[in-house]
This record gives sequence, C-alpha cells and structure tokens, in this order.
Amino acid sequence: MAAKNHAQWLSEPKLKANEWVDSRIYSDPQIYEEEIEKIFSKTWIPVCHESELPKAYDFRTMSIAREPVIVCRGPDNEVRAFLNVCPHRGMIIERRPAGSFLEGQPSGNPKRMTCMFHAWQYDMRGNCVYISREKEGFQDRLCKEDVGLRRLRCEVKFGGFVWVNLDDNPKVSLEDWAAPAFGCLRKTLDAEPLEVFHYHKAIVNANYKLWHDTNCEFYHDFMHYHNRVTGFNDAYFARKNESFEHGHIVVGTFEVNYEKYEGFDSRAALSFPHLPPNQWYMIDMFPGMNFNLRGSALRCDIVTPLGPDKVMIEFRGLGLKRDTSEERQTRINHHNSIWGPFGRNLHEDLIGVQGQGTTMQTGSEPRRILHGRHENQTIHDENGMRHYYEEWGRWMNRMPNHPEQPYAEAVSVAAE
Ligand code: FES
Ligand SMILES: [Fe+2]
Repeated sequence: MAAKNHAQWLSEPKLKANEWVDSRIYSDPQIYEEEIEKIFSKTWIPVCHESELPKAYDFRTMSIAREPVIVCRGPDNEVRAFLNVCPHRGMIIERRPAGSFLEGQPSGNPKRMTCMFHAWQYDMRGNCVYISREKEGFQDRLCKEDVGLRRLRCEVKFGGFVWVNLDDNPKVSLEDWAAPAFGCLRKTLDAEPLEVFHYHKAIVNANYKLWHDTNCEFYHDFMHYHNRVTGFNDAYFARKNESFEHGHIVVGTFEVNYEKYEGFDSRAALSFPHLPPNQWYMIDMFPGMNFNLRGSALRCDIVTPLGPDKVMIEFRGLGLKRDTSEERQTRINHHNSIWGPFGRNLHEDLIGVQGQGTTMQTGSEPRRILHGRHENQTIHDENGMRHYYEEWGRWMNRMPNHPEQPYAEAVSVAAE
C-alpha cells in the first residue's frame, strides 16, 4: 500500500499482540509514574562499581526512582547504601557526586556524613552520632538512636558492581534475579578485581526503554556502517539472543576479527580471564542496564529515567585492577575506539534513540512501534524486545500494545 491517510496510519498492524507496542509506553506521564513506583522502586539497580569507592570513607551519590541515594565504604570495608536524606528536615545530606569523608568539610567532622543545614552527623553505618543542641532542643523527647538514616538493601556482586534495591522485601533475591543472565560471564567477571577507567554520561530526550531496545537488537547495524564492512563474519550474524527469566537477554559471543578493522589490532593479549580471545558478550538486564564485554574492555550502561521522554545514561568502562599503565592505556584505546565519544558505535546508537524520542514526545499522537521481526532468534531478530515487554507488562499490569488494558500473558518467546 502506498502512503496512508490518518485512519490507515492509526490502524493496528497485522501482527500478533506481542509483536508491536503502543508508543504511549514511551511518552505517557501516567505510565512513567507507574514505572517509577512499580518497577524502579522495586528492582535491583547497579548504581556504581566498588572500584569507585576504593578506600574506607569513600562515597558516591546517585538517585533511584527520584530518591537520592548515597553509597559509602565503611571502615570495616563494607559498602552500604542509604537514602541521602537527613531525618531532621529532609535536606539532602551530601551534594557532591563523589568524594571521601576522611577529611572534614568546612561544616562537618572527619569520618562523618554531616548535614550542612543544622549539622547533624551520621557514621558510615548510618547511625546518627551528633545532634546539635540536642538537650536544649529536644530535652529527653528525641535522641540520636531515634534518627538514623534509612538503610537500603545493598550487595556487591557480579564483577564488583554495587546493586541497590529500594524495596526492603524484594520479590526476588539479587542472586536469583541476575545469576542466570550473568552465567556466561560470571567466572570471567569474578576471577579478579575490576576497575573503572572510563566514565561519561549522556542525557537523552528519549524514553529509557528505547535505550534498552537498541541495545538488544543488532538489526540497526545498518546505522553502524563500519560494522557491516569490516571485521564481522557469518558467525557474527549467527549469534543468538537468548532470553532469561525476569526479562533479561544475553547476546551470544563469536570471535571478532579486529585486524580487519582499519587501524585495529587483535585484542587477544588483554582478554579478560577465562575468556577465549576476542570474544564479545552482551547482557541486557531488565529494566535497562547493559553489560557489554568486547574481549579486553567491559562497558556498563546504567539508565536513570528523568521523565517520560528523558533519560540519563551513565557509561562506564572497566579493565582489570592489576593492569600495568601500558595495559591500561591499550584497554582505554580499545574501549574508546568503539564506545568513546569519538568511537564508532555509541554516539550512533544515541542518535538513533534521540531520533525516536523526537517522534515520541509527551503528548504526541500514539502510534504503533513494531517489534515483529523473526530471524531464528539471531541478532537481527526482535525477540529480545518481545521478551522484555512481556516482563514489563507483568510488572505494570498493562498490555504493551494496549496500555489501557490489563496484562494478559502473551505468546512466550521460548515457544516461538
Ligand atoms: S535538615 Fe539536616 S540537620 Fe537539619
Ligand atoms: Fe548499536
């Protein structure tokens, strides 16, 4: 059929219910609010890597589901997470993105988190250790034991990432949530300590799920011109998108011929432990985190939704902690040549989702987004998205293709 009139444009595609979604799931403010409440407030979120808190009293701040969060390393070496909110009158306690409490700030003592508003202080376990003018103001009606910080579930796992869950009673443990999807890389990531060597972030005017979508299909290789003409072979296209419980997807590996890229060399010498040379695995975690290991460098994407059509994506690059400075520089080059700001890949992906975000701004007319490609579950298939949106439908109790309707189990991807 030729170009369509308005009614034809709005008609439903001739595909199964799980093979398309309604664009309102990417733009509707009410759906977004529900996602914050039903998904981001209840799932395990990797907030940073333990190497970003190398010493006791180091901290990082971030937010989950709009809640300010602080992660710090105690003198006992344990990494803990708290709401970064003062129990007195709700001031954010620490405003820096990262730092150390070892040195005192102008309005605080060493080894304490100090709320600069009225100088209440907390230790690395979240205990309140000082209330200014305590007796004068509260007499005996309130004491330090009554006003500790809100501690959050926090585990360091799967290669040293720091996972936090706002829910005190998560539906599923972190181990059960993530271990099957990490199976392909767990031995590799846990063999020895890793270290973050690269960090940048992008704020994109697009829904966070669109970033997940582009990470879990390689059909958009057409955008990555170099990918089509350089180091890839039949094994590249034969890789499978394997789905796991809880909405996760793993893209299988193959041996990349880096020598065939112009200006590139084999990455075998710096392969991560227990990994055959030049392999490439990708783990796409529900609701949008990504772990991508190209032989010698690991990339991790962490998404923080900022609105229905806005997302912050933090990109980290990791190598082995024991790298020599020369090895580290080579790893950085490997990482940046693909994923750095002037690399071949990441910025093109960002252009793709930004373009989708432009057509799916809040208030734009609902339209159909097709996820119906079947190519034997290989990388050009869209089974990763179908799997993801089944999970999304269950958490939200909404049909992805008719979000006004309650969720009904779609055709399972495994049965396709
Ligand atoms: S709000 Fe933190 S000390 Fe008052
Ligand atoms: Fe891409």
